[in-house]
Amino acid sequence: MTILGIETSCDETAAAVVRGPEKARQSASVRVVSNIVSSQIDIHQKYGGVVPEVAAREHVLQILPVINEALKTAGIKRGRASQEIDAMAAVTGPGLITSLMVGVETAKTLAYAWQIPVIAINHIEGHIYANFVSANSKSQTLNPKQMQNAKCKMQNINFPALILTVSGGHTMLVLMTGHGKYKTIGDTRDDAAGEAFDKAANLLGLGYPGGPAIAAEAKKLRVASCELRVQLPRPMINSISFDFSFSGLKTALLYAIKKDKDWKKRIPAYAHEFQQAVIDVLISKTIKAGQKYNVSTIMLAGGVSANTELRQQMTQSIKNNLPQINFIMPDLKYTTDNAVMVAAAGYFKALRKEFTPWPELKVDCNQKL
Ligand code: KG4
Ligand code: ZN
Repeated sequence: MTILGIETSCDETAAAVVRGPEKARQSASVRVVSNIVSSQIDIHQKYGGVVPEVAAREHVLQILPVINEALKTAGIKRGRASQEIDAMAAVTGPGLITSLMVGVETAKTLAYAWQIPVIAINHIEGHIYANFVSANSKSQTLNPKQMQNAKCKMQNINFPALILTVSGGHTMLVLMTGHGKYKTIGDTRDDAAGEAFDKAANLLGLGYPGGPAIAAEAKKLRVASCELRVQLPRPMINSISFDFSFSGLKTALLYAIKKDKDWKKRIPAYAHEFQQAVIDVLISKTIKAGQKYNVSTIMLAGGVSANTELRQQMTQSIKNNLPQINFIMPDLKYTTDNAVMVAAAGYFKALRKEFTPWPELKVDCNQKL
């Protein structure tokens, strides 16, 4: 089964083609046939964050060339798209309303023109399904025939699974009891983890996006030997709630650097301490939730799961505290926004025939999982 995915919820215009077996299999995962992402980071950098109106205009310019490229890379001729693509998956929310509309209206138009079914995907669900992409999928290097013949390592994902979803807009702990079955057990109270990274980076003068910038500064600590005089809080680390709150951490960083007239000499130390404070909270709550809900699998999802320290420390902590649990992380290239994850989520919905008639496909910028 071949699925075309479309993602335009924020500042990436993305399209991808994935393939998976025609029938549901316990351990099924999808293979990537093409993966095209046109990022607007350079455009928004000068504003220090995403400007919604600018993002939407850019999506309008990029969406058709990006879809065209995804089809071309997949070896699908435009005239044959209606025969070769079984369904189209598009993100309907959450996200920026005008950005989402570009992807959704394009998907509706193509569904109408090609007469193929369309599937509504929640953006968070898309991030979760980045874990269901075959580990050795080599996008853009194999043609579709080679892809079909390629031996693919199938992820063995057993339910119930716990997913720590950490992105620019959300910090969530999600219990997944089966495909498409989610229960949110911990949610974002104020700033999401990625948003906190972005705001902290802004305070430290490190630019946008903040996550990679903070991680790069934190890494310098080992060689920079600048000592840190302040310890930042670990918000809600001892709370019985699985919710997250990172806005106080950002304010604590602001007060700490205001008090320190030499803070510019200690940026790696502040970045390191900030990153570690976020990681400590994320790991502690994930371990406690994994124990409480007795899950078989733990997964990471979302842009912040690109953070190397988080990946390494979470791996170690699960090994130490929950050695019986299978821990899965998405491939680095599918952590931040992309359409492979959307097409992967679409594949599993297509197996269940969860299609939406194209006139009913609607954007919902606050869509819940
Ligand atoms: O999932 P994503 O691409 O978009 C949303 O759905 O929001 O996540 C973007 C977020 C940004 O806040 C960015 O700073 C953060 O992910 N991020 C990181 C890293 N790479 C991206 N945060 C920490 N460490 C990273 N290496
Ligand atoms: Zn995202």
